[in-house]
Amino acid sequence: MKRVLLTGATGYIGSHVAVELVNAGYDVIGVDNFSNSTPAVLGGIGKILGKNIDFMEVDCTDANAFAKVFDRYPDIEAAIHFAAYKAVGESVAQPLKYFRNNLHSFENLVELMVTRGKGANIVFSSSATVYGQPALDELPIVEQQPFQEASSPYARTKQMAEGILKDCVNAYPNLNATVLRYFNPIGAHPSALIGELPNGVPNNLVPFITQTAAGIRECLSVFGNDYNTPDGSCIRDYIYVVDLAKAHVKAVDKMLSEGARWNVYNLGTGKGLSVLELVNAFIRATGVELKFRIAERRPGDVEQYWADPSKANCELGWSADTPIEEVLLSAWRWQQGLKG
Ligand code: UFG
Repeated sequence: MKRVLLTGATGYIGSHVAVELVNAGYDVIGVDNFSNSTPAVLGGIGKILGKNIDFMEVDCTDANAFAKVFDRYPDIEAAIHFAAYKAVGESVAQPLKYFRNNLHSFENLVELMVTRGKGANIVFSSSATVYGQPALDELPIVEQQPFQEASSPYARTKQMAEGILKDCVNAYPNLNATVLRYFNPIGAHPSALIGELPNGVPNNLVPFITQTAAGIRECLSVFGNDYNTPDGSCIRDYIYVVDLAKAHVKAVDKMLSEGARWNVYNLGTGKGLSVLELVNAFIRATGVELKFRIAERRPGDVEQYWADPSKANCELGWSADTPIEEVLLSAWRWQQGLKG
């Protein structure tokens, strides 16, 4: 069995990917420093799989500690790098925290994979945020779309890390890389044993919806209904986290079987959904009442974008087509489990 290293393995996306990789027959070594997750996530992963994954508590910015993972697991052939801070607002207030953590850990990973990995295949967890606000005639977004000025230090770390990776692929002949640009990941594992664990008041829409439905928050604010969209609210491409996780398995499969040196893929459904459409889908799917009101626009929000995922559809043999009601129900079941 081939071994895959997951940094940020107990985070929202990392935990779902760990499950899908093991289900696909890979050995996993997960690392995390629990800066935005808890050891209990390992229990959830273990329950789903019926066995625990190999795991080491490591801060990837600490090169010496990180190297110990390679001492213990000299058979690592591929790595998926999730370990990063991801709060856009916090990144604006504390940019150095973001550059230090998100870039330094990534540089350490690339160096260790190139020098110590049995193979040096890296999948990088990027974001649609690298594109900024596309013009309406540039929708849906294709991978060739040029980057715009980063809208936040968080966005800049994603743009910079992609550039670092490209330079390293050019410099190191044994290094292969795949960049996955996520649109808006939502939902939870169908077992309701792992899911998103927001820190404090959620910034993101779906955790705010489920917490409001559960009575933890009083009322959802829909940020703006005067955008240039059919119902006036912002449009995003919401992708089910389990579908997203499966794309990582396909990316690793492809790298290990074909050794492609550099690939970039958009991971989205290809369909845009407005905030109000998502709210209505949640009510329809769960039958739960949801208090919401129209509020001011949120500064920094992009009006509308969605993916053209056809490159990933064709080259990875993958698509994200879980119905939105099922996805939202999974988020609601996860929320209910947290409450109990
Ligand atoms: N929204 C609300 N009310 C809320 C929260 C969000 O109306 O309480 C709206 C936002 O205004 C936006 C939409 O819901 O129109 C989605 O907002 P999210 O915060 O869930 O997601 P974003 O699209 O703002 O951000 C996400 C990731 C970022 C990433 C960005 C671009 O959270 O990490 O996509 O890829 F940078």
